[in-house]
Amino acid sequence: MSINILAIESSCDDTSAAVFSDGKLLSNIMASQEVHSQYGGVVPELASREHQKHIVPTVDLALKEAKIDKSELSAIAFTLGPGLIGSLMVGTSFAKSMALALGIPIITVNHMQAHILAHFIEEPQPSFPFICLTVSGGHSQLVLVKDYLNMEIIGETIDDAAGEAFDKTGKILGLGYPAGPLVDKLAAKGNPDAFTFAEPRVPEFDYSFSGLKTSVLYFIQKQLKEDEEFIEKNLNDLCASIQKTIIKILMKNLIKVAKKYEINEIAIAGGVSANSGLRKELESVAKEKGWNSYIPHISYCTDNAAMIGITAHYKYLNKEFADQGVIPDPRLKF
Ligand code: KG4
Ligand code: ZN
Repeated sequence: MSINILAIESSCDDTSAAVFSDGKLLSNIMASQEVHSQYGGVVPELASREHQKHIVPTVDLALKEAKIDKSELSAIAFTLGPGLIGSLMVGTSFAKSMALALGIPIITVNHMQAHILAHFIEEPQPSFPFICLTVSGGHSQLVLVKDYLNMEIIGETIDDAAGEAFDKTGKILGLGYPAGPLVDKLAAKGNPDAFTFAEPRVPEFDYSFSGLKTSVLYFIQKQLKEDEEFIEKNLNDLCASIQKTIIKILMKNLIKVAKKYEINEIAIAGGVSANSGLRKELESVAKEKGWNSYIPHISYCTDNAAMIGITAHYKYLNKEFADQGVIPDPRLKF
């Protein structure tokens, strides 16, 4: 009998469903929510309502594309946290009721762990132990990955996440939400050495990005007093310089951690791992340090249900099923 898993991701503003059979990805469907862009950020109440609208057609399409009937499913997996409580509730209650109706087990998945295990959807795959820099809209973590389901956080952000640093500085420049992908695109046309911004002083392997945001804000306010077209005239250079600073901060601790743990299997994951500057910098540092570097396929960087499905596959093999009474946890830890 094959292990057929339906996986659902609804932690933030994208509804996604994927189907795996014996660890092989058969479908990965995504319904994005456009409604938030006009508000300059995700509006939690609107996000949960959009999930409610999208979840049935998204799951339907994922099963159809995978050519798997719901009667053939072995388990249903879903994101338990971290994330927005209302959004998590939609995926959780949908998955629990569908599993109850089908008489099959449920599997809960930690969203941050899933970002890391996205590396096991396709080849090449890192070998254990490896270090993963997980950088998303809500988290920046340096993780020692000992096995599929055995991970330890070595360092993390004490304030803003790397994705937030992109989004908030992008907002100061007047870019829409999320600004990360646009900063990336404009940075490619700019000079990364045009401007210098503050780098944090944080103990050990932790991160901090709120100082960078403030440094960009004060710099822009000062420049605008002298020239109100300052942003328009320097947009590409500003994006390139901000992006360079964020990458420098991220890479500094990654290099320190790799050295301390004497590990040369190094991966990046999460939405910000889609950033072309970070991808390039990791490759070049890897060459210099003799690391084996692992960069996820672009479609598995930002939120997706395939990463939930692959994590659930390993949990299924371990028989790690959850109770129907389980409730989502917006601050879920490993
Ligand atoms: O992992 P993700 O999809 O959602 C969370 O779990 O938070 O990450 C979303 C974050 C956003 O902050 C977005 O701006 C950022 O990832 N992001 C990028 C790029 N693509 C997405 N940041 C920089 N460059 C990109 N190309
Ligand atoms: Zn994410």
